[in-house]
Amino acid sequence: MIKILFICLGNICRSPMAEFVMKDMVEKKGIQHLFYIASAATSSEEIGNPVHHGTRNKLKQYGISTAGKHAIQLKKADYENYDFLIGMEERNLANMRRITGGDPDNKMYRLLDFSNHPRDIADPWFTGNFDLTYTDIVEGCEALLSYLKIAKMIL
Ligand code: 4NP
Repeated sequence: MIKILFICLGNICRSPMAEFVMKDMVEKKGIQHLFYIASAATSSEEIGNPVHHGTRNKLKQYGISTAGKHAIQLKKADYENYDFLIGMEERNLANMRRITGGDPDNKMYRLLDFSNHPRDIADPWFTGNFDLTYTDIVEGCEALLSYLKIAKMIL
């Protein structure tokens, strides 16, 4: 079982989008049994809140539901419980390392570090551009699945 935790600042826009896009991708490939996928925030700002309507509306276009998801905060213990802790931007990584006390096992990445063009995913909470968030996240999740294949963690 490959355990993946997607992380952003608020856990209402980008990381839940990554969580549900990745769940949809692995279900469509019939490999969902190989994964445990979740998402969390570095900040406490939005804890308990549902997914932002911008993310919900975007995913609805592709028939993906985020029902039941509420924002949770990254905990120190998550570091042991997950194989990959994947942030959306460099600033997330700094906050993730602060919460977990570091990354001695090299489990932390930015989602687009797996792509051919490593870069941050801009925060749509500030930009309002959920279309760009979606294309970036699809690119990142596809690249992550390719990486897992190359690493022979999945077939
Ligand atoms: P996210 O977006 O990190 O992609 O979930 C944000 C959501 C909430 C806030 C900032 C970013 N906020 O400051 O409350």
